[in-house]
Formats: sequence, structure tokens, C-alpha cells
Amino acid sequence: MDVKTLAVVGAGQMGAGIAQVAAQSGIEVFLIDLNTELVAKSLKGIEAQLQKAVGKGKLAADAAAATISRLKGTGSAADAAHADFAVEAVTENEGVKKKVFADLARALKPEAILATNTSSIPITRIAASVERPERVIGMHFMNPVPVMQLVEVIRGAQTSDETYAATKALATRMGKTTVLSKDMPGFIVNRILIPMINEACFALQEGLATAEDIDTAMKLGTNVPMGPLTLADFIGLDTCLYIAEVLHKGLGDDKYRPAPLLRQYVDAGWMGRKTQRGFYRY
Ligand code: CAA
Repeated sequence: MDVKTLAVVGAGQMGAGIAQVAAQSGIEVFLIDLNTELVAKSLKGIEAQLQKAVGKGKLAADAAAATISRLKGTGSAADAAHADFAVEAVTENEGVKKKVFADLARALKPEAILATNTSSIPITRIAASVERPERVIGMHFMNPVPVMQLVEVIRGAQTSDETYAATKALATRMGKTTVLSKDMPGFIVNRILIPMINEACFALQEGLATAEDIDTAMKLGTNVPMGPLTLADFIGLDTCLYIAEVLHKGLGDDKYRPAPLLRQYVDAGWMGRKTQRGFYRY
């Protein structure tokens, strides 16, 4: 399948990033969100990023203009009818996602593919909620989407070989490297990353070291761009806790139990960068 038009549903940080990278790869994009103010804000943000890249000499001005011309913002899911492929990137809530999937399934052409950017909800269960589950797949981008090289592709129990091949081809065209994961809690990245972040929370809770020293140890000791607590603040502590709970419940092993300190920070409303306070103050 040659994807000419992509619908991205959800104009938050992830949806905007996916829309930007797709448009930069020559694909026509409809960025859809009921919150049209958010759509407008995200389109402005993309434009600002492209202009920044032009300013740094990393992108030609005409390429930036062409990218912007390929992006259309809309508040109507019915606009997905133009698309050969849709990526859902709405809030990580199963009820909301299922509702969006039902709307998309109605709007899309019968042969169109429906991908979800979920990080924690089983693809098989989302697929079971629509009429053509073989066309449903997981396409998990990493944040920030324009920078991160990886897309995890997750096959649900019902996903067809054609759907998988088209998804992999689309991610490759968007300049990403794909890995294939089974539909198990956390897929690959979060299965390994979130227990590491959770362990850093336990270490801090136990007074093993300061937050700064835990992060410096991991940053300089294992050559990662951010230490685990800085990364947790970047991802959002509520998101980290939610995924930790998904791993704990889904895998049924107490080794995945969320650190009480992580839960306490979320209870306090200290969610990380987005609330100006998490393990650090911003
Ligand atoms: N959007 C687009 N570009 C961005 C960006 C954003 N949000 N943030 C940074 N960049 C770009 C900058 O413009 C800069 O580009 P140039 O090199 O062309 O100038 C480049 O990235 C480096 O940025 P900075 O110099 O500002 O800062 P940095 O070197 O500290 O990098 C970072 C920032 C890319 C975020 C880096 O710290 C990093 O890679 N951190 C780890 C991120 C990570 O692990 N993400 C995955 C989280 S897990 C996940 O997403 C899955 C899940 O389900 C929870």
C-alpha cells in the first residue's frame, strides 16, 4: 500500500510530532482533534520548529513551506475519509481510545489501516472493538517524535500480514527504524524502561543516593542522554505510574510493583516537567 494521505487523531505532543514527521516525508496529513484550539496551537508549534530548523541551516525554506502546505488541521473525524492510513494518538484512556476507533472505523475507507500509538493498552482488545480487526495495529512512536529513531510495531492477535507490511513501510518512509513486538504489557521499550525508572524511584526512596547522583550515575555510567529520574519527569510521572501499574497487573508479578514514592509524587500533583515539579523543579 502506498500511503498518500494520513489521518492523525489527537493533536497533543505525540500526534503533532507524528503529523510533522509524516508531512516532512511527503505525505498529506489531516491532524484531527475535537479541540480545534489545540489543533491550531500544534500546527503553530510545528511551523515554529520547522522555521527553527531553517534558521539553523538544517532544512531548506522551500522544504519547510512544502511540509506546512501538506498539513491540514480539522476538528472533524469525518475528515479521516480522505486517508489511506490513520494513526490514533489520543489520551491513554481505553474508553476514549475505543470511542475514537469506532468513529475512525466509520469514517475510513474499508481498506484503510487503523494504527494506535498506545503505550499500554492491548492492541488485540482495541482491534476487537471494530469491524475489521485485521486492519488494526500498534504503532508506538517515542517522544519527542521528530528526534527519536524508533517505532515499535505491535501485531494484535488479528493483525494481517498486509497490515504489518504497510505499517512497517510507512514507518520506514518516515525515516524511522522499526522493531516488532508481541502484544504483551509494555511491549519492548516500556517493559524494560519503566522497571528501570521504577527502580530509580525505589533507590531514591531508600536513600541510596540523591536524585542528582542517581541520574549522573546512569547518565555518565551507561551513556544515556538523560538519567532515569530526569527521564521520568520528561515522560510524566503519572504516565510512568500508569504504565508501571499496567505491567504489575498484566504480568502479575510483584517485581513490577510501583514504588510508593512514585505514587506519592503523583498524588501530590508533581507530574514532572508539565507541572514544573517532579523529581526536579522546572
Ligand atoms: N521536538 C523536536 N525536536 C526536538 C525536541 C522536540 N520536542 N526536543 C529536542 N529537539 C531537538 C532539538 O531541536 C535539537 O536539534 P538539533 O540537534 O538539530 O539542534 C536536538 O533535538 C537536541 O536537543 P537539545 O540540544 O535541546 O537537548 P538534548 O541534546 O538534551 O536532547 C532530547 C533532548 C532529544 C530529548 C534528549 O535528551 C533525549 O534523547 N532524551 C531521552 C528521550 C527518550 O528517552 N525518549 C523516550 C521516552 S519513552 C517513550 O516515549 C515511550 C513511552 O511510551 C513512555
